[in-house]
Amino acid sequence: MTGRQVGPDSYLVSAAEADELVALAGTVTADPATDPAGFTAQAARAARRLPEPLWEAVHCFDLMGSASGILVLRGLPVRDVPPTPGDNSQHVGATTEAARIQAVVNSCLGQMVGYEAEAGGRLFQDMVPSPAMADTQTSQSSRVVLEAHTEQSFSALGPDVVSLMCLRGDPAAATYVFPATDLLAHLTPAEEELLRRPLWTFQVDQSFRLRGDRFVDGDVRGPFPVLAGPAEDPTFLFDQDLQRGTTPEAQDLLGKVIDLYCRHRREHVLAPGDLLLLDNHRAIHGRSAFRPHYDGAQRFVLRTFVVRDLFRSHHARPVGGLIIPARFS
Ligand SMILES: [Fe+2]
Repeated sequence: MTGRQVGPDSYLVSAAEADELVALAGTVTADPATDPAGFTAQAARAARRLPEPLWEAVHCFDLMGSASGILVLRGLPVRDVPPTPGDNSQHVGATTEAARIQAVVNSCLGQMVGYEAEAGGRLFQDMVPSPAMADTQTSQSSRVVLEAHTEQSFSALGPDVVSLMCLRGDPAAATYVFPATDLLAHLTPAEEELLRRPLWTFQVDQSFRLRGDRFVDGDVRGPFPVLAGPAEDPTFLFDQDLQRGTTPEAQDLLGKVIDLYCRHRREHVLAPGDLLLLDNHRAIHGRSAFRPHYDGAQRFVLRTFVVRDLFRSHHARPVGGLIIPARFS
């Protein structure tokens, strides 16, 4: 029995497909921390044997996106998950079978990479609430709403796809997504025309500055447009925290975009076994606030990054490496 599409952006994996995924994960034996290239090579090899309907759902998303900007694969096997750690420093998620399944699916979309500024360049990042970071605008926050953004909005080498594997959910933690097509539907022609002009700069997230290094591309990027591409399939570049208008009119328009996001964003509450693939060009994202108990059973999501064109970062990476140094971000 095969899995099935259960909505425009949701695919429910069948029990037989789940068994096949477990078998494929068993062929991925390299350690992603010490041998990321070997690990992703094994995952790519396994991806060639993905069950066909599942592969088609992912391939279709890769080719054309989806109405919401995400594809959620549901019902993936999640077994033997260790207690949720209290912060992201222990890298326990990478050791799970679910991580290897995530890597196999990711390989249908492109190449997994690490960013030195994100968990020291690990391919897998434990996205867990940390008491010390509860009120920050980071993936370890909880008590505050995570503001709307494009992942690494400031960087030319940012991910094309953000892949989130849910090991443990929290019913109060909603992932928000807002695709460019939904934004367009609520804009006047004059507003759209303005958003297509390069009128916004982006500051580099200061957490990306390691060892006091200078960024190769400087501290402020742009100006860039918010919207680009064909009207029926536009791209969306936005960051509620790091983006500034270069004119008063452009700055004012940011408020309108945020207002539309808050009123029309879609939401998905991740459940264990959900793999959420986010198109980082077609949709922006955020997250609701939630209140973890820090009892080892709190929310645990594995975040990974995928690029379609590894060669784009050729100048930044050591030969054969998959980690993009922070100063190139
Ligand atoms: Fe994000």
